[in-house]
Amino acid sequence: MESKKSILEIIKGRRSTRRFKPDAVSDEDIMAVLEAANWAPSGENFQPWRFLVIKNKEMMEKIVELLPYKKYQKFLMNAPVLIVVLVNSRKSLWHILDGTLATQNLMLEAWARGLGTCFSAWYPTVPEKALKEVKKLLEIPEKWIIITMTPLGYPIDPPERAFRLPPSRKPLEKVIFYETFHGSK
Ligand SMILES: Cc1cc2nc3c(=O)[nH]c(=O)nc-3n(C[C@H](O)[C@H](O)[C@H](O)COP(=O)(O)O)c2cc1C
Repeated sequence: MESKKSILEIIKGRRSTRRFKPDAVSDEDIMAVLEAANWAPSGENFQPWRFLVIKNKEMMEKIVELLPYKKYQKFLMNAPVLIVVLVNSRKSLWHILDGTLATQNLMLEAWARGLGTCFSAWYPTVPEKALKEVKKLLEIPEKWIIITMTPLGYPIDPPERAFRLPPSRKPLEKVIFYETFHGSK
């Protein structure tokens, strides 16, 4: 019998996935990861996010073509699905934070379902010119900010080959302080 993983196991197990199997992702799985994203906390519960689901490979290729660092951004079209996380910049003060939290929820629900994702830095790093062209291509009005685009799909076998960096984090004793920040560097 398969035992359910704890949230901590899912959090620690998740890896940024950049190489995927061609296998389709079911609509049920896509809806579940978007439902998780939609349940993220947001400032004053404004929920300023929207999610754009792209399955059309030609569209993915066009997006990558418009980006300046194609070599590093090519992985965006490696999966059968590309999810664009957008926030309305005029809706609330906290739209960037809200969109980021929604993305994290999405990535964790995906991992719990055996699916890989990778946060790709759009806000604030994609240059204005490329951003304008991609927004035009996707018919995204001015006020919407692209937080990230993440591929969604099953990591290739063996999964370790789907991830660029080894899973490591700083030791907890280096990042936790008690009562004051004394001794920080
Ligand atoms: C704000 C942010 C921006 C990122 N941008 C990119 C990116 O542009 N390209 C990429 O391949 N990975 C990107 N990543 C993924 C990180 O490289 C990855 O999370 C980190 O190396 C830790 O690996 P892990 O996610 O497998 O634990 C980004 C992650 C975050 C949180």
